[in-house]
Amino acid sequence: MACYFEWEMGRPLFITFEGLDGSGKSTHLRRARRWFVEAGMPVIETQEPGGTPLGKAIREVFLDPAWTSLDGTVETLMVFASRRQHLLEVIEPAIESGSYVLCDRFTDSTYAYQGYGRGVSQALLRRADELATGGRTPDRTLLFDLPAEVARRRGHSPSRQLRDGGIDRLDSEDLAFYERVRRGYLALAERSPERFFLIDSSGSLDDTEGNVRRALADLIPSLETVR
Ligand code: TYD
Repeated sequence: MACYFEWEMGRPLFITFEGLDGSGKSTHLRRARRWFVEAGMPVIETQEPGGTPLGKAIREVFLDPAWTSLDGTVETLMVFASRRQHLLEVIEPAIESGSYVLCDRFTDSTYAYQGYGRGVSQALLRRADELATGGRTPDRTLLFDLPAEVARRRGHSPSRQLRDGGIDRLDSEDLAFYERVRRGYLALAERSPERFFLIDSSGSLDDTEGNVRRALADLIPSLETVR
């Protein structure tokens, strides 16, 4: 088995998993992490909003249905505050040490949800992005794509369950919102084809896993891609 440090520099260490709520990205991220570990490659798994103690506190407020009418720009500032701390405290140090970083959502989520979903202007998002991250983009992004209607039917990850059993703030958005978010994601992927891998996640978990394996096969030499 090839050793990770024998590989040339410029490895795509920063890999993000993006898609609608219910697209299965978090499940596949956890599986992908296992493949890296099994191949003896250094890897961390992290998440936005979240990833640090501050990020987790912001996430709680961000998803709290008590704040029904949060303005899109306020949402933008919240997720970028979480993101800057996440980059400084977790992501950049891990990359610096040569570890792969598998991140559940990053700035593409903000362009899709706050930009296309809420209507925050691209210009404002770019300014906030520049301020918070210096325009940092992932090396590779796996976009889990499926019709918004199907994603809504599938429901949400247990991490989104509120203590009182209710639904969170983003969960209560209507189908039209999620259709805009999906269109946004597809537009982002079209704009940066060198970074995006479009993963059809409308089928079974196994079908989608086959697509994820193909998207990571060049990084994990031992990964079986024929299923
Ligand atoms: P997430 O924890 O990924 O939810 P799930 O695991 O169910 O997919 O994301 C929480 C919510 O936050 C999700 O609805 C998307 C939203 N979000 C934004 O609106 N903007 C952002 O920049 C990020 C990172 C997330």
